Amino acid sequence: MSNNSDIHQNIDKYFMSYEDFDVHQLMLSDKSRILSYKNAIFDSKDKFTNKTVMDVGAGTGILSIFCAQAGAKKVYAIEASQVAKIAKEVVIENNFTDVIEVIESSVEHIELSLIDKVDIIVSEWMGFYLIHEGMLDSVIFARDNFLKENGLMFPSIAKLYAAPCQLPSFFDFWDDIHGVQMKCVGKEHRRLKSLKPEVSIVNDENLLCDSNLLIWLNLYDVTVEELNTLSGDNTIAICQKDGKCQGICIWFVVEFPNGSELSTAPSCEPTHWKQTVIVLPSEIELSKSDPLTYKLNLNRSEENSRFYNMELTMLDSAEVEHEIPCCCNMTKCLIMRTYIEKQQLNANNLITNVNPDD
Ligand SMILES: C[S@@+](CC[C@H](N)C(=O)[O-])C[C@H]1O[C@@H](n2cnc3c(N)ncnc32)[C@H](O)[C@@H]1O
Ligand SMILES: [Zn+2]
Repeated sequence: MSNNSDIHQNIDKYFMSYEDFDVHQLMLSDKSRILSYKNAIFDSKDKFTNKTVMDVGAGTGILSIFCAQAGAKKVYAIEASQVAKIAKEVVIENNFTDVIEVIESSVEHIELSLIDKVDIIVSEWMGFYLIHEGMLDSVIFARDNFLKENGLMFPSIAKLYAAPCQLPSFFDFWDDIHGVQMKCVGKEHRRLKSLKPEVSIVNDENLLCDSNLLIWLNLYDVTVEELNTLSGDNTIAICQKDGKCQGICIWFVVEFPNGSELSTAPSCEPTHWKQTVIVLPSEIELSKSDPLTYKLNLNRSEENSRFYNMELTMLDSAEVEHEIPCCCNMTKCLIMRTYIEKQQLNANNLITNVNPDD
């Protein structure tokens, strides 16, 4: 179990990591990230006009500025790291000192009586595979303590998706290095890589199956306790083409109250979050329509609550219940599909036979 001094050290290290301007430049250069927030806020000007907003984890203050530009009458820009000092300068540079108040503190340490409840909480809290960094805990704290009843959350929904994929750089790469085979190196490389999730760009063409939704979080009511253990149901992915399953690709999407979204899917413009992959130690040959069944658990680490342990279990597709109807090629699903099609045909014939126009 972690003790108090570990917890404090982890917190300090975490906030110090945001004192590096390279990190802010990386985030501010991520067009999909910035424009998703900017468009969601600007498309909701009616919701921001004359409203009070809290920006949880304001960083350089960019989202607070967007909220002020969208017509907010007051924005509390909460930033725990030293970057808060720079955010104050950004606010001055953009002439928003009458609207934006930068508060250099973690949101958990703000005196509750100092701030009136706000109409909207805006925050960019997502980490790799959505929940790495554990910043959502702080947003939940802000929601429970500072958001008015019926207030709005930007974003309001978060979803985690996964799909089996090919990972040529972890497998095929080692087959032939300018005429030299290095499969043994590849095997060891994969063994080491399969011990923890890998952040990497996955080409959409390397996904073998349509995505499955693993986790769906409603940010209006999700609790910190629920985030301790996140586990999808048994996931049955159905292959859309022949290929080799070499890993599971994971990505997230968040949705804003206006219905717009920020997606980090392989089919979308790459973001600084890239995708996260779980590399399999050895590949599984798959043909179109084959089912591949697995279960993914995300358990909060006891040593550092900002980290998660990922647990992937491959399951036997014959031993789990499939959807009805299921479009995989297993005999039980083929029989069920044929039966349902026949029933539909009979029902259609019946309708035709009793049609009074005939
Ligand atoms: C992912 S960055 C986003 C920065 C900025 N909002 C942006 O979009 O460019 C998250 C920021 O939240 C701050 N932060 C994280 N947890 C916080 C907390 N509990 N209270 C205040 N600030 C926090 C970090 O120091 C970091 O600057
Ligand atoms: Zn099936």
